[in-house]
Amino acid sequence: MNPSESFRCRICRGPVWQFLDLGRQPISDAFRTAGDTDPEFFFDLAVGRCAACTMIQLTNAVPRERMFHAGYPYLSSGSAVMREHFARTAASFLETELRDDGSFVIEIGCNDGVMLGMIAEAGRRHLGVEPSAGVARIAEDAEVRVRVAFFEESTARDIVATEGRADLAYSANTICHIPYLDSVFRGLDAVLKPSGIFVFEDPYFGDIVAKTSYDQIYDEHFYYFTVRSVREMVRRFGFELVDVAPLAVHGGELRYTVARAGQRTVTPAVAEWLAAEERAGLAEAITCSRFAANVGANRRALRGLLERLHEAGHSVAGYGATAKSATVTNFVGITPELVSYVCDSTPAKQGRLTPGAHLPVLSPERFREPYPDYALLFAWNHAEEIMAKEHEFRDHGGRWITYVPDVAIR
Ligand code: SAH
Ligand code: TMP
Ligand code: ZN
Repeated sequence: MNPSESFRCRICRGPVWQFLDLGRQPISDAFRTAGDTDPEFFFDLAVGRCAACTMIQLTNAVPRERMFHAGYPYLSSGSAVMREHFARTAASFLETELRDDGSFVIEIGCNDGVMLGMIAEAGRRHLGVEPSAGVARIAEDAEVRVRVAFFEESTARDIVATEGRADLAYSANTICHIPYLDSVFRGLDAVLKPSGIFVFEDPYFGDIVAKTSYDQIYDEHFYYFTVRSVREMVRRFGFELVDVAPLAVHGGELRYTVARAGQRTVTPAVAEWLAAEERAGLAEAITCSRFAANVGANRRALRGLLERLHEAGHSVAGYGATAKSATVTNFVGITPELVSYVCDSTPAKQGRLTPGAHLPVLSPERFREPYPDYALLFAWNHAEEIMAKEHEFRDHGGRWITYVPDVAIR
């Protein structure tokens, strides 16, 4: 680590030391149309750790309008497992924070309305805040109320003026996308009732380290949370971390419950997670350096395997044109010679080229026409769902390649 690489933490202004450089990367959800002539946008993707508050974060923020706009393709409803996850989440809110008929919930980053749709069905007051107008429209078509905006302090003040204060704010896979969390927490302070709570869930840095899932690192994911860094962050903004619970989705996440200081009883889980992180040395710089070394080994192994398969004349396709896969394809140097195409169920990705690496995206129906010899599972976080759906691939002699937690043929 070179002292000249130091810059300031977005949470506490402490010095941030870069520990992993993933090179020149495109916008992870900017799928190209064949024949696009406008130059592709690239930025330097690198991640560092704050020496003061331990928050892991990107060393470079991509302007938010480049990522989240009317053409943002990701649809939360694209996975049956995730639909189920959000149905359970909505049901549990309806039994707790939203028990009363008059209660009000806001969701930050509601996407296509997969969670709020169920709240709307139950007749509860709700409002989604979602800057990507295309996905927001899908939510509105499902009778979900949405404000097309980035959540920040000014948005929250507008909401208070027109809708009043909320009992609950919820956010899945979005808070880690927002560099300007100081403004977000000032907004939460404005919009939540005195006893209101904020529940958010995001990929857990502990899982990223344990699984070497470096593909969780891409433009949209600005922060990589630990219980320690979240507790410190919310305290700085006048809140208190009152509960932590693990979630078995998206490769391992934590759900954090945050209240105004002193408003709720802190569950034993908070201290237990903090102790476990301490024992594992998760917040230590040495853990970050070891992780970076494992990432380098994983890259060499995947590159070597794909080159050997190519030389032996085997066909290889990708499965799941995930945002995560942009990091892998561009960091490992996966060209259309090594992986001919990627199958994906998202309409807005099909018929286009993946960002940077330019692998063609085809519909899942094309997967069997004919099956490739090997399929590189980019959507490894949906492995069970996809392997069950595509069980005939193996019956036809096909083999899956995974790279999380290590490079293997299955
Ligand atoms: N909650 C969904 C969507 C996650 S994708 C799920 O878990 O599947 C992240 C979403 O956050 C995108 O739809 C993006 O448009 C939205 N987003 C990004 N910045 C935001 C901000 N400042 N406020 C609200 N939503 C934001
Ligand atoms: P995610 O990992 O960010 O949720 O993205 C998953 C991607 O994989 C998304 O583009 C949709 C795609 N997908 C399929 O093509 N088939 C499937 O069965 C599932 C679950 C996802
Ligand atoms: Zn810091």
